Amino acid sequence: MLIRVKDVSKIYKMDKVEISALKNVNLDIDKGDFIALMGPSGAGKSTLLHIIGCLDLPTEGSLEIFGREIRNMKDKELSIFRNRHIGFIFQSFNLMPVLNVYENVEYPLMIRGGKVDREKVLHTIESVGLLDYLKHRPDELSGGQRQRVAIARALVTDPDIILADEPTANLDSKTGDKIISLLVELNAKHKVTFLFSTHNEMVSKYAKRIINILDGEITH
Ligand SMILES: Nc1ncnc2c1ncn2[C@@H]1O[C@H](COP(=O)(O)OP(=O)(O)OP(=O)(O)O)[C@@H](O)[C@H]1O
Ligand SMILES: [Mg+2]
Repeated sequence: MLIRVKDVSKIYKMDKVEISALKNVNLDIDKGDFIALMGPSGAGKSTLLHIIGCLDLPTEGSLEIFGREIRNMKDKELSIFRNRHIGFIFQSFNLMPVLNVYENVEYPLMIRGGKVDREKVLHTIESVGLLDYLKHRPDELSGGQRQRVAIARALVTDPDIILADEPTANLDSKTGDKIISLLVELNAKHKVTFLFSTHNEMVSKYAKRIINILDGEITH
């Protein structure tokens, strides 16, 4: 078992109003899984991905990664743990605008300290088909190319799981299909575990497993 989400609830407090974004969510993720998290806007998809990605803590319940309870980790330990085990692809890509493609992909290795394996960075960029674009900055790339840089950046650390929040939402359907095909290939070839959220039925058909979420609850 790679990840175990157990009875997780998340309540956002806004002034006096409480929003119950996740209600008793249970989910087990195994190595090699390729899971689509489906549900309408406001269902709780991003909230769940952020909790699994250790970017936010649950209000109730537990998250275990490799049997380790995340709640018991200190901030420093948690950020090292996250850098080592988890890749996150944000909906808005979150690339560094002043860094070029090579530098953006190198970044998560740089913050680890020590010497960066240049071959590894280049090889990862090659796997997403962007070797001809090393010196381009994000504003000199198309949406699909930016998304591929974000994927390479998530891959370069050899994470155990990649979480992607609507990886195709900002792309036209043809480019979106290509991105999903790339994820399918990475899953098949390198056994990378993926959990991604999507509104799109077309995209979810590639997944090995579909989890539906509605009003903060997993329906099946
Ligand atoms: N930081 C926050 N503070 C308060 N409420 C929040 C916060 N983030 C999310 N919510 C609320 O929690 C609920 C779930 O939001 P979430 O972003 O997880 O939905 P989603 O399924 O990702 O939606 P979308 O498909 O639109 O991205 C929504 O009602 C939202 O308004
Ligand atoms: Mg969302």
